[in-house]
Amino acid sequence: MRIAISGKGGVGKTTVTALWGHAFALEGRDVFLIDADPDANLAAALGVAPKDLPQPLIALKELIKERTGADPDKLGQYFKLNPRVSDLPDTYAVRVAGLRLLVLGGLQRGGGGCACPQGVFLKAMMRHLMLERREVLLVDMEAGLEFLGRASVMGMDALVAVVEPGRRSLDTAEAIAHMGRDIGIQRFAAILNKVTDPAQVEAIRAGLPAGMELLGHVAYSPALQRADLEGRTILNVDSAAEAALAGAKRKLEALVAAKAAAKG
Ligand SMILES: Nc1ncnc2c1ncn2[C@@H]1O[C@H](COP(=O)(O)OP(=O)(O)OP(=O)(O)O)[C@@H](O)[C@H]1O
Ligand SMILES: [Mg+2]
Repeated sequence: MRIAISGKGGVGKTTVTALWGHAFALEGRDVFLIDADPDANLAAALGVAPKDLPQPLIALKELIKERTGADPDKLGQYFKLNPRVSDLPDTYAVRVAGLRLLVLGGLQRGGGGCACPQGVFLKAMMRHLMLERREVLLVDMEAGLEFLGRASVMGMDALVAVVEPGRRSLDTAEAIAHMGRDIGIQRFAAILNKVTDPAQVEAIRAGLPAGMELLGHVAYSPALQRADLEGRTILNVDSAAEAALAGAKRKLEALVAAKAAAKG
């Protein structure tokens, strides 16, 4: 199962990715979390200490040079468009809280489509992860989808937009669904996070783009916020949030299974 988690900045993408990953791992599933946000902080959310934070793959210049045949720091070289990367997830993923985490790191915004060794390397990595790995794969994205180019997210089983009680996060969800549809993603869903009033749930449900199912909602959580402020893991700090996300996760699994069955 391959799920991309996107949404407006700060809505809770990393929080949802970490808590869902943990929930899958507790079921004994083999979970791969991919931090695809250039401003990577999924490891920190999982409680990895600052000194142990994994290096993003994009920063491993010697490796990129070895695999692409070109020095990332030099311009105007020939390089392989399809570098071998299949061994890298197992080598470079860090194990934390019963799951594996791979930090891709990012090219600066706007450079995502860059025809440079790093861009080709990251795209090859995403393609490999999407098309050839069998684990539960959860990808914590930056807002938007174009950062790694279309091919990289094409294999997603579903795209989940995290929204908060606010019009702008719905606008982002709509833009994401639009982009997702363009690249052939078929299932869209949303999680409403940071709810402070029950009336917000129906208002947001009504405002979601067509074809985007609301999987569930998570109340505003001082405990989650405190864990972040204090730089602690966000796992096991708020059982109500985890229960809400467990329910949303079951709906997501049903959505993926239903569409898969309908297909054939
Ligand atoms: N349900 C919640 N209640 C209260 N605070 C929350 C909740 N969910 C997330 N937060 C807090 O909101 C902030 C943003 O959350 P998070 O980092 O998960 O969002 P994000 O969408 O990944 O952000 P970014 O766009 O920066 O990657 C964090 O401080 C987090 O602790
Ligand atoms: Mg994030």
